[in-house]
Amino acid sequence: MTTRGGFSSRLGFIAAAAGSAVGLGNIWQFPYVAGQNGGAAFLIIYVFWIFLIGFPIMLGEITLGRSAQSNPYGAYKKYGGKAWGLVGLFGILSGIMILSFYNVVSGWAFGYFLETAFGNLLEENDFSSFFGEYVADYSDNLWFSFGFMAITAVIVLQGVKKGIEGSAKILMPALFFLLLGIIVYGLTLPGAIEGVKFYLLPNFSLINAETIYSALGQAFFSLSLGMGGLITYGSYLSKQENILSSASLVVIADTMVAFLAGLMIFPLVFSQGQSPSEGPGLVFVALPGIFQAMGPVLGKIVGSSFFLLLCFAALTSTISLLEVAVAYLIDERKWSRRRAVSLMALVIFFIGIPSMLGYGAIQSLTSFTFYEGTSKSFMDLVQDIFSVIALPLGGFLLSVFIATRWTTAKFSDEISQGAKNYKGSFMEGFLNIMIKFICPVVLGLMFILTLLQKFFNIQLF
Ligand code: PHE
Repeated sequence: MTTRGGFSSRLGFIAAAAGSAVGLGNIWQFPYVAGQNGGAAFLIIYVFWIFLIGFPIMLGEITLGRSAQSNPYGAYKKYGGKAWGLVGLFGILSGIMILSFYNVVSGWAFGYFLETAFGNLLEENDFSSFFGEYVADYSDNLWFSFGFMAITAVIVLQGVKKGIEGSAKILMPALFFLLLGIIVYGLTLPGAIEGVKFYLLPNFSLINAETIYSALGQAFFSLSLGMGGLITYGSYLSKQENILSSASLVVIADTMVAFLAGLMIFPLVFSQGQSPSEGPGLVFVALPGIFQAMGPVLGKIVGSSFFLLLCFAALTSTISLLEVAVAYLIDERKWSRRRAVSLMALVIFFIGIPSMLGYGAIQSLTSFTFYEGTSKSFMDLVQDIFSVIALPLGGFLLSVFIATRWTTAKFSDEISQGAKNYKGSFMEGFLNIMIKFICPVVLGLMFILTLLQKFFNIQLF
């Protein structure tokens, strides 16, 4: 057997897995989705999904990966045969497609960092049209997203210990402190308290069916679940490590960063009298106005720190997305890491180009219509298929796989290897019931409902 890479310590695994989880999903997406869906009420439903469904699925992925010592395809195939291997392949494909658009948004963040730090972004007077023109201008964005993919590739090329673990151990704490710094500053602004109220005092009348499944999709995306990322990282984890406590820390870190990102953004937004339901532009349109109001020097410092933070967060996630496909090529196709990384990075960069061009550069990629009143860009479409639908579906298939093929006994054995009193504990009973019954039923149902709503505009409740 060839020697697979591995994390040097439990902390290394936690940093890398938390790095994968914490990303644009927490800082860019979570605040705008929460802002559109009622703030505090959304937060409560989100946390409910995270702990009830996200946590057991995360454990399912890590245990399966560690037990099989393989990439998602190899892991499913090892215990379920070729047909189940397809589920692993589907996960790898989802990861590739997610990375293709994720890298484009990361490129915007990178561009905004450069524009804030060294350009004239803060002298603009209409940030909304600036954003529109910015994302439509593919000549710059091609370079930014190419650059971002290249940085990701260079790190993944260094392998598990040095590249993935080493970078996450520096980037994650840096991100955390930057976040705290901006929060403290934001809370001192006049009017900030209104933002805190919106974010923390729930108004349940704002909840509808869509809120419930956007919160589920958000939970899967944010925890990096459903595409085999954590099967891959789990396969680099040693047998002595306590998966239960490591996964708990990853879930807590991810939820905390999403929570803190909201706490950073809403006070800033409210102190400027802006709307919290601005949408995907929230970070790119609302925030520059706030940085501008801070004055030229402070605005430049806080603004460029913020976009740099966004890049850091994105980078530890793009690393994990690339690693999944790379691990597959190394394990199954016996490619060298160098060949797998360079080829995959290039291919994914190219797959991302239509997503980039769908923001104004090429008209036919900007609006796809499924039913009256929808208009989706190419990127929205890829996001709907490979993230909103495919990730919870991946979680559903994983739980069915554990329930029917791999067995909850093996799942439980694998956890108990590093967790002494696990067998016979309340936690064991809870997790087995969740994986075997609740996850398949709830995720199966949510998959159908989301599909009906997204593509046919049918809402069942
Ligand atoms: N969890 C990452 C984020 O929140 C995105 C991601 C999704 C990464 C799926 C890996 C796999 O930004």
